[in-house]
Order: sequence, then C-alpha cells, then structure tokens
Amino acid sequence: MKSIASAPAKIILFGEHFVVHGTKAILAAIDKRVTVTTTFTENQTVKINSQLGTIEVPTSPSISSSYEEVKSEFRPFVYLANEMITSNQNVNGLEITINSDIPIGVGLGSSSACCVAATASISGLFKEVSSEENLKMSIEAEKTIFPDTSGADCTVCTYGGIIEYDKINGSKKNTDTSNLNLLITNSMIPHSTKRSVEKVSKFKEDDEERFSQLCALETKLIDEVNIALKNKDLITLGLKMSENQKYLEEIQVSNDTLRGMIGSLKEISLGAKITGAGDGGCVIALVKDENLDKVPALLGKDKEYFSAKIDTNGVEWEKEK
Ligand code: PMV
Repeated sequence: MKSIASAPAKIILFGEHFVVHGTKAILAAIDKRVTVTTTFTENQTVKINSQLGTIEVPTSPSISSSYEEVKSEFRPFVYLANEMITSNQNVNGLEITINSDIPIGVGLGSSSACCVAATASISGLFKEVSSEENLKMSIEAEKTIFPDTSGADCTVCTYGGIIEYDKINGSKKNTDTSNLNLLITNSMIPHSTKRSVEKVSKFKEDDEERFSQLCALETKLIDEVNIALKNKDLITLGLKMSENQKYLEEIQVSNDTLRGMIGSLKEISLGAKITGAGDGGCVIALVKDENLDKVPALLGKDKEYFSAKIDTNGVEWEKEK
C-alpha cells in the first residue's frame, strides 16, 4: 500500500520582514509541488530517499531520539515517522520518497511544503487526517528545523490560494485569485532567512521611529492590496509590489543583483519585488503571459526563471493499493 501526498510551494506577495514585527503579510501558494510517497516495509528502519541523498535510520529498539541527530533536511521526516511508529503497533519500517520541483533554499517554501506533504503522506498510511490536524502536525515537524517558524508557510501550503497572515490572528483566506500571472526569477544566491531577519531587527533597534513608520506604511499598503485583489485590479497590485520593494530596500535586505533583476524586468512587468527574506533568493514580477519570451534576453543566462500561477488546491492526498 502506498500513501501519496503533495503540497505546493509558496511566495510572499507582500509584507515579509514587517510580519515578524506584527504587521500583516499576504502569501500565495504557487503551482510547483513536492510529492511524498510512503510505504510500509519489513525492515526495521525508516528509509528516506530524496534529491539530497538517502538515509536509513533503525526503528528498533527506538527511533525517538534519532531525529535530532540526522541532517536537518531529513529531520522532519524522521520526526513524523517516529510519531506514527510510536503510536501504532505492528509497524516494522517505513520508506519515504520525496520528489520535488521546488527550488531549495531560495525562499519558495520548499521545507514547509515538504513538511505538509510528508505529514499527509506518512499519517495517511495509518488514518485519514483533517487539514487542520495535518497543519498542526506539519508545523511541529517544521519546528525540528526552524524552532521559531510563524507557521505562515505551512498554512499557505496546506490550504493553497492567497492568504493574509499575522502573528496574532493567524490566517484568513482571500477570494478568487485565478488571474494573477507571476514570473519568479531566481538570483541563484542562496540566502539565510535567520541572518536577514537579524539584520532587520538591528535596523529597528537603530531607528525605532522610522521602523514604526515603515510598519504603518506596510499596513496601509496591505489594506490597499486587499481591495485591489478583490477588484482584480492588476495595475494597482503591480504598483503596490514596487512600493513594497521600496520599503524592503530601506530596511536593507536588497542588493545590486536583486535591484538589477527588478530593473531589467521593468519594461515587461506591472511591478516587481523581492519575495521572502531577500539578500538573495527570488524576485517576483507581475507580468503578462505574452511577455515571457522576452525574459531570457532581459535577465541573462545565469538566472533561472519560471512563470507561476496561484495554486488553489493546497495539500492533496491519495492512497494506492
Ligand atoms: O524564508 P523566506 O525567504 O520565505 O522568508 C521568510 C519571511 C520573513 O518575513 C523574512 C521571515 C518570517 O519568519 O516571516
């Protein structure tokens, strides 16, 4: 028997960094997915296969302490396997296989999508779980890598679509979002979310007054974005993306490469900005489909890019005999 689950990648459309300090953010699931397949095995091990390698952890006498010892990229899977094996008797071993088309380490939510899909796949082998339960468990799994995760990424990967998120009230789903056509461009510079978040905290410490003005501006911007989303007003959305980028420039999470990419995309986009922590990672631009052919000439050969649509499905799960 096979339990197969998949979950989408994510982007932050508006509000990254400021969300850490209490403002709202708007996130979207996009049509790139990770698929996790889990099967029972007769071996007393948990075997994990992914593009990053293969590991095999013995389940006997117990795997409960081993997740802390494995490399961070495998930790959530070993954690989830342990949770299931310890609460279900008569299981010898599990084999978990991960196939992903989400670029790793560039702010597209690869690890959150893995946690959401792995939770559905591993727990689905034993019983059907609700989306709410799945989300809760996947956030716990993600905490084995990022103890301070806000849960926003796992939330958007679980439910799909566009969500508004803040640390106090959690998430609220936006309505129909099917007309957004986004270009995602990868600077090919890996980033450290932790380092960028620390840098912004330092900016705040040095200039509390300006930072609080920027938070107020971001809040106002997000209110305007919500109206534009409701009205499917792409022109305003593009303008708001460029305005948000100015705030991200001011808190110093941009660099020459990212600015160069945003500048190059100007002639074909309604607006463009960093998505996620910045200092590397990806730039998103709101574009018209017919302009996609022009992208390689504008960006140069050393950058990756793809066109993305909003994923409205979120996590998906099926069982095969
Ligand atoms: O890890 P990334 O690139 O998706 O960035 C996370 C977004 C931040 O707002 C910078 C941090 C956070 O926890 O919300």
